Amino acid sequence: KKVVLAYSGGLDTSIILKWLQTEYGCEVVTFTADLGQGEELEPARKKAEMMGASDIYIEDLREEFVRDFVFPMFRANALYEGLYLLGTSIARPLISKRLVEIAEETGADAVSHGATGKGNDQVRFELCAYSLNPEIKVIAPWREWDLGSRTKLIEFAEMHQIPIAKDKRGEAPFSVDANLLHTSSEGKMLEDPAEEAPDHILQRITRPEDAPDTPEMVEITFEKGDAVAINGEAMSPATILTELNRLGGKHGIGILDLVENRFVGMKSRGIYETPGGTILLEAHRGIEQITLDGASGHLKDSIMPRYAELIYNGFWFSPEREMMQALIDKSQEHVTGTVRLKLYKGAARTVARWSDHSLYSEAHVTFEEDMGAYDQTDAQGFIQLNALRLKLLAARNRKFKA
Ligand code: ARG
Ligand code: SIN
Repeated sequence: KKVVLAYSGGLDTSIILKWLQTEYGCEVVTFTADLGQGEELEPARKKAEMMGASDIYIEDLREEFVRDFVFPMFRANALYEGLYLLGTSIARPLISKRLVEIAEETGADAVSHGATGKGNDQVRFELCAYSLNPEIKVIAPWREWDLGSRTKLIEFAEMHQIPIAKDKRGEAPFSVDANLLHTSSEGKMLEDPAEEAPDHILQRITRPEDAPDTPEMVEITFEKGDAVAINGEAMSPATILTELNRLGGKHGIGILDLVENRFVGMKSRGIYETPGGTILLEAHRGIEQITLDGASGHLKDSIMPRYAELIYNGFWFSPEREMMQALIDKSQEHVTGTVRLKLYKGAARTVARWSDHSLYSEAHVTFEEDMGAYDQTDAQGFIQLNALRLKLLAARNRKFKA
């Protein structure tokens, strides 16, 4: 028996590695992805080797992550429950896809992950894996083992000579998930939503009150809905997001404190840091303002909450997500142009936008003499016909008023 484990190199997934070997009698292949979490991956290789992993996969997936997952999602301006930029949700499909592919390459019949039985991540990993391989088996140790407490986990690690960092010996750490799009923190004192989160939670964003006192301008160029250049310089998708993260982090942009509804039914409170993503959303809306037709924009906005919910719930590889994506991508054909934003103390604000594809017509909208571009008397019939049923309703309301 052979299983491919999504392995971070941290304590929990190291315990899982050992547990799969000892309790399941499996050969374990580890898979560690660089999604821009900002951690060295070589230590994960050393640990996996030391623990006798039968194969070790370490891959830099940053470009694929941004190009094929983050950017398509940003074309939709996706927000879950109005606020969450889906930084964890959008990373899971890519990890699942590689787990399944590596299982096929190495002749493994199962995949495994370190998500608990209470969360969204288990659902996402597994729905994505089954969508790509209906025969795949999934082992979710957190739902099976009896290592429910921190003490038992540490005991198990000690028994199997798994190195434990000093700071991991005491109480459970925050549950942190990081990638190029965001860092999320959950657990510990964050579990009381009535308590303010301490500032030291922040890992990648300067507190807005400590951010520079002078604003910084940035210009983002889009092509068919995707960012392609910053300040006139063409860059790869991952480079763009990295640079926007630097700018957003410096100016205190992208902090969110949210109580959200998990797919499994409970509410949970998290602190999210999405510096570059927050700038990118504002900029993308800015370029859509001039390049997207009104009705097209309203239509894609109307499906956005469902699209975001699909991603949150783990249905990235579903026909309905792909159908919505086709609609969204079609809407982006002319979303090409440049947006200038002002970054200042926690806010990214669009201040200018221009495009060869613009639908904005100053000739029509001007408060000055419009030289015959628009005939104001046309508006009279327009209003009269729109008012017709409102007038008939108003007449009936008067008739039946007490
Ligand atoms: N609540 C967020 C989500 O469901 C973040 C989850 C973070 N996951 C983690 N394993 N720490 O997308
Ligand atoms: C987990 O349970 O692994 C983290 C939280 C979540 O998946 O929602």
